[in-house]
Amino acid sequence: MLNVWAVVQLIDPFGRTVRDLRISITDRCNFRCTYCMPEEGMAWLDRKEILTFEEIERLATICVQRFDVDSIRLTGGEPTVRAHLPVLVEKLAQLKVPNTAQSPLAGKNIDLALTTNGATLRLIADELKSAGLSRINISLDTLKSEKFFKITRRDHLANVLDGIDAAIQVGFAPVKINAVVQRGVNDDEILALASFGRNKKVEVRFIEFMPLDAQGQWQRNDVVGQDEIVATINNVYPLEQVAARGAAPADRWRYLDGAGTVGVIPSVTKPFCGDCDRVRLTAEGQFRTCLFSTTEFDLRAMLRGDATDDAIAAEIARAVGTKWAGHAIGNVTFVRPKRSMSQIGG
Ligand code: 5AD
Ligand code: SF4
Repeated sequence: MLNVWAVVQLIDPFGRTVRDLRISITDRCNFRCTYCMPEEGMAWLDRKEILTFEEIERLATICVQRFDVDSIRLTGGEPTVRAHLPVLVEKLAQLKVPNTAQSPLAGKNIDLALTTNGATLRLIADELKSAGLSRINISLDTLKSEKFFKITRRDHLANVLDGIDAAIQVGFAPVKINAVVQRGVNDDEILALASFGRNKKVEVRFIEFMPLDAQGQWQRNDVVGQDEIVATINNVYPLEQVAARGAAPADRWRYLDGAGTVGVIPSVTKPFCGDCDRVRLTAEGQFRTCLFSTTEFDLRAMLRGDATDDAIAAEIARAVGTKWAGHAIGNVTFVRPKRSMSQIGG
């Protein structure tokens, strides 16, 4: 069948083309990381408020077929706590980037990725791989079990380590490890985590702590900056920077001894907003053009009303037309979004 719509690019007012859609599929989580959630008292969304797999698939299809989005990442909360995740993965993995797209993936399947805390990954890694998931990022902020409990408020370090091994064994390429670095919490483990990545032959990406904790306790002093992280590693394992990161948030370095690469996501000290190609969909179907957006576009109301694909596409284009230049963390003009990380999707 001939497509009757024209494939257009989603280009924001600052000339950035949207390529990457991050879909939160649940606000729930089996952890309570201090930098994300309070210990108790999160108000969870009702099941009926959350987009169904069919609704998610419809929006994803619109973004891929009409706007040349070539990459989708599933996030949460914790995406693996949503029942039947492999079923959704299987549906989305089959989406094809249009032949006419200006993308290295034109004519091929989209790049489908997942961000997880890894706690139950051993149980479904195989299924996710067979369902067509291409890439996986697993969070790991510490290698010490007591500290792990302090950070996540759960005693699951062994399960996460096992989940990482499972991801490597079933052949996800690449497997990446995300480590949020907080001053006085785990900044003494930068080297240990880097060594872990070298030994496992996976890329560790250190993330600067952002003001998206549910309790609003973030302080600029809690952030360990990219320069310090890189210097700490370089002192022991000499590094050289890998050129040009494009739209990816991580700056990357190569170990001179050939033991792979390491990344840093410098969200606070060197914001990469100028290269951002991302948009986000919350679990209840609110479209956001930035982690730090203070406005949202209610696509769920359209999905559950009688909106046509054309109308939904037009609303997405309108939303992208409002995307701002970037966040202003650390400046007086910065306004914290009302949602915390688990309610937006990392
Ligand atoms: N700052 C930086 N990263 C965060 N994450 C969660 N909360 C924060 C925060 N306040 C990370 C998680 C995970 C990803 C989804 O987002 O560690 O890797
Ligand atoms: Fe859960 Fe991820 Fe938030 Fe931790 S950071 S509480 S694993 S959603």
